[in-house]
Amino acid sequence: MNQTIQIALLGAGTVGGGVYKLLEKRRSELPQRVGADIQISAVLVRNVSRPRPGIDPVVLTDDWQSIVRNPDIKIVVELMGGIEPARTYIREALQAGKNVVTANKDLIAEHGAELFDLAEANHCDLQFEAAVAGAIPIIRPLKQCLAGNELTEIMGIVNGTTNYILTRMTQDGMEFDEALAKATELGYAEADPTADIEGYDAGRKVAIMASVGFHSRVRFSDVVCEGITSITATDIRFAREMGCTIKLLGVARNTPDGIEARVHPMLIPQSHPLATVNDAFNAVFVHGDALDDAMFYGRGAGEFPTASAVVGDIIDTCRNLLMGCTARIGCTCFKELPVKPAAEIDSKFFVRMKVDHRLGVLAGVTSVFGNTGVSIAQMVQHQTTDGCAELVVITDAVREKHFDDALTILCSMSMVREICSVIRVY
Ligand code: NAP
Ligand code: HSE
Repeated sequence: MNQTIQIALLGAGTVGGGVYKLLEKRRSELPQRVGADIQISAVLVRNVSRPRPGIDPVVLTDDWQSIVRNPDIKIVVELMGGIEPARTYIREALQAGKNVVTANKDLIAEHGAELFDLAEANHCDLQFEAAVAGAIPIIRPLKQCLAGNELTEIMGIVNGTTNYILTRMTQDGMEFDEALAKATELGYAEADPTADIEGYDAGRKVAIMASVGFHSRVRFSDVVCEGITSITATDIRFAREMGCTIKLLGVARNTPDGIEARVHPMLIPQSHPLATVNDAFNAVFVHGDALDDAMFYGRGAGEFPTASAVVGDIIDTCRNLLMGCTARIGCTCFKELPVKPAAEIDSKFFVRMKVDHRLGVLAGVTSVFGNTGVSIAQMVQHQTTDGCAELVVITDAVREKHFDDALTILCSMSMVREICSVIRVY
């Protein structure tokens, strides 16, 4: 009961600072909760002279070698972000026999296989719960609690910034730019929001969840990503008229002919549980053959929500160390399933277009869909003041390449003045 496990944090930013403070807050109970005290012996940063409220300056260092060469440090907690030097440091830590906890989705989504192999070879834990959906437990449930299932679908809202933006557009009628400015003002969006608004951040999380859930490696480069920059308040109004709301969804499906992995803005029925997930909250919806449906909901980012997941991983690793059973659950990707290209995926589509308001136009448009094998499920027409009509069509599920054929023909017709938006429908 008097053991102490020494750890090092790499990074003392939003998440690193949160982890430090949360471990301090739990300090008095750690021996009982974990079976050992956890001592933060070093915190690696770029700038050691910057004041860091709440962090003992004695532990700050900018010398990675002093950490990796210290045999007393048993766990390295990587919270720097990005690919390099995080990848090199994690590799060196594992090669030195140190266990690793990371929140780095970019790294796991692109170089996960290599790092898991190294962890297994060195008999170390490599834990990454915080890499997907912050505080929400999802990696451990997928790897452990749901291990008896054949999972066929994992989908959800896994980016808080874009969910906040879409919520403001839906509830307050804001346009995208205004909602993004509000997200930036509140600290949800980063100075460079590209990874969030273009869907890359969600795509990395989809790659990780699909790999873990379907036991087959899916890389970020396999995920089709589309962001929310072209969504307008008008699209949201039409979606509402058709009983739907627009969300940025990450969708991974395990189908008999391969894995589908993608991120799109999508219309979902207002009755779907994900439609009520608002502001910066995240939620992940999982379907399995034994489980049926389950939904995980909570805060996907921020200092303490993310620290919650990281500290959970640190404690789990400490318990494994104390029992001499690190590397108990390594890489679970034992299959090699194909990942479907976008053109081979079936989707339903919402198409909003401006057409001439005259006899025969509706017949012309519907015949294009009919001739290209695209079945129409719903249609709404609004007359506008400039002699044209705004037409919204929702299709049944169709192979994306057939839908693209229909769109190409529509674009070439003089009666179709503009294809304003094309959004997938769940
Ligand atoms: P952050 O606030 O930018 O902090 C990064 C920290 O890493 C800083 O303390 C920085 O040092 C240090 N650092 C960066 N490069 C370094 C280098 N080459 N050598 C030494 N120190 C270095 O980042 P964050 O938001 O905490 O995110 C950390 C990780 O958690 C990322 O992988 C991110 O994707 C993930 N994550 C974040 C959240 C969130 O809500 N923020 C949620 C889930 C996952 P200085 O302070 O000296 O600059
Ligand atoms: N930028 C991410 C989000 C942070 O908005 O959800 C957590 O990964």
